[in-house]
Amino acid sequence: MHFELSEEQLAVQEAAREFAQSELLPGVIERDSQAIFPREQVKKMGELGFLGMMVDPKYNGGGMDTVSYTIAMEELSKVDASASVAMSVNNSLVCWGLEKYGTEEQKQKYLTRLASGEVLGAFCLSEPEAGSDATSQRTTAEKNGDHYLINGVKNWITNGSSASIYLVFAQTDPEKAHKGISVFLVEKGWKGFVVGKKEDKLGIRGSDTHSLIFTDVQVPAENRIGEEGFGFTFAMETLNGGRIGIASQALGIAAGAYELALAYSKERKTFGKPISQHQAIQFKLADMATQIEAARLLVRKAAWLKDQGEDYTQASAMAKVYASEVAMNVTIEAVQIHGGYGYVKEYHVERLMRDAKITQIYEGTSEIQRIVISRGILR
Ligand code: CAA
Ligand code: FAD
Repeated sequence: MHFELSEEQLAVQEAAREFAQSELLPGVIERDSQAIFPREQVKKMGELGFLGMMVDPKYNGGGMDTVSYTIAMEELSKVDASASVAMSVNNSLVCWGLEKYGTEEQKQKYLTRLASGEVLGAFCLSEPEAGSDATSQRTTAEKNGDHYLINGVKNWITNGSSASIYLVFAQTDPEKAHKGISVFLVEKGWKGFVVGKKEDKLGIRGSDTHSLIFTDVQVPAENRIGEEGFGFTFAMETLNGGRIGIASQALGIAAGAYELALAYSKERKTFGKPISQHQAIQFKLADMATQIEAARLLVRKAAWLKDQGEDYTQASAMAKVYASEVAMNVTIEAVQIHGGYGYVKEYHVERLMRDAKITQIYEGTSEIQRIVISRGILR
């Protein structure tokens, strides 16, 4: 059993750490308070290869392993979870499934541009009435000769307005329930496709979360990925990997808050000594460090299983549910260690606390992860 990182993984960690400090940190407070998408920063992430890390180099990807991806996600999420969720969606929810199940033509046309970061992708599964209950898709795709007509509404779509290419799930045969769901590549700007309301959120405020409205959007049949009815399996398989990305994001949020709290505890003095010399603070730091280490092990294990070609369904759900709970606990304690200063924006930890909450909700709530884990245990 090896716990050390390879030379390549260490280089990824160093590059991501450096990028987070030099490019993401400046302006992160303003972007959060004004809900500004980190457009320039995400563009640079593409240039550095962070948007298609695991994609084969022949499609402009980085050809790296999933462990490297989790390391980069962790480092960027320490500073800006709004930028890292754009990265997670593009890598694991859009590029991964397109590379695995797309035709060569689809890969040449779309994957090459997504993996290089030339354009961003979005994953459009959730609807107003279909979140956890993802099989209840109301959006329809009706076959009409050599194309489909898509009608419906998607909710909560990350990269909603900044994406150019959208993976859209829709019912092609409602009578078959989830076995009648298909998945399509849809381009922004196609007639009848409207980017709707932007959500005003508690956290990841820089991420652009939108509803999307489809009215008779004509999608060529060649833009369907896989056979008709393959969409739900595609979504579930994709989310198994996506959850490793969000678990890494949660881990990074926790680790970022912990590092800030640790440094602050050595500087801030009360009763004649740094607060790090009070045992109550020491025990908080000990618990935070332990939880972060455990979360990191679960994240790396899930990524490693994926890299080995083993089943990682349960491991990714475990990593996500645990790391997201650690993110919540640790960020709350980081605010506490900062006292009143933790409650104001300039010390960063209140933002990390707000950002942490979403990791318990998206890509399957904590309750859904427990369903996935318990089904695996009881099967
Ligand atoms: N991996 C592979 N296949 C899976 C699977 C998994 N994790 N979970 C379910 N399936 C398959 C089942 O095997 C079954 O296939 P068959 O019919 O061929 O046997 C099919 O999917 C239906 O499964 P169930 O009968 O278990 O369906 P269910 O309705 O009882 O429950 C669920 C399914 C696990 C709750 C699923 O609906 C789910 O994961 N819900 C959460 C949705 C979600 O995570 N949404 C995230 C949206 S993206 C996002 O959030 C992005 C972001 O924020 C950045
Ligand atoms: P519901 O499904 O209505 O759940 C409400 C509550 O009931 C939750 O606590 C849930 O855990 C619980 N619950 C539901 N069913 C059960 C059950 N069977 N047993 C126990 N408890 C249950 N979706 C996309 O497709 N693409 C995206 O890019 C995307 N980005 C997002 C970004 C943000 C900021 C947000 C907030 C959401 C995003 N989502 C996205 C949607 C997200 O995946 C859903 O919000 C999530 O899956 C939960 O669905 P819901 O909001 O409809 O809650």
